[in-house]
Amino acid sequence: MIQGVIFDLDGVLVSTDELHYAAWKRLADREGIYFDRTINDRLRGVSRMASLEIILERAARAYSEDEKQEMAAFKNGLYVDLLDGLTPEDILPGVTETLDGLAARGVKAAVGSSSKNAKKILEKTGLLDRFDAVADGTDITRSKPDPEVFLCAAKKLGVEPALCAVVEDAEAGIEAAKAGDMTAFAVGDARKSPRADRRLNDIRELLALWN
Ligand code: BG6
Ligand code: MG
Repeated sequence: MIQGVIFDLDGVLVSTDELHYAAWKRLADREGIYFDRTINDRLRGVSRMASLEIILERAARAYSEDEKQEMAAFKNGLYVDLLDGLTPEDILPGVTETLDGLAARGVKAAVGSSSKNAKKILEKTGLLDRFDAVADGTDITRSKPDPEVFLCAAKKLGVEPALCAVVEDAEAGIEAAKAGDMTAFAVGDARKSPRADRRLNDIRELLALWN
């Protein structure tokens, strides 16, 4: 039986996936690079620099390493400014009830996010105290689809990977969960992933596992 659930953050717990999109769109428009929501879905779960490389696939010219660093910093500056406006209202529907339900069932909960801004988001939304462990972009060297962040979260929880479930909105996150020998639950965009073990229309459906 599953003893620990590891939640992705952006697009699963909080609607910050929309803020990532807004900030990348501003950068792409500044550079005159085509960018839309379909391309944005490929950025879900992957690191900041890997996201930039995906955006640059549509660029008309090559960019130097220094230019790439400036672009990533520009995007992150916009994104961090947008995070200042976050409140508990930005927690996605069903998340609070799901966390309450897990706690009532004695199931541990962790965050497993590629983001280096995860702690700020958890603090601004009041979610930080709701988790037994947090593993984020500051704990890892390899971003999803590598399983490192989920294995780190499982270790912090003290639960064997095979007894952990992951909840993800990213294809890269589903791949990471499977590479880590975990059960993969897909929400949102990740429901189209063939590798997902289960697809949830509503995150609260997760609780049926223990009924
Ligand atoms: C993931 C997002 O959670 O974090 C990605 O889905 C993002 O889109 C990645 O690129 C890294 O985030 P940050 O905040 O460190 O730039
Ligand atoms: Mg996500």
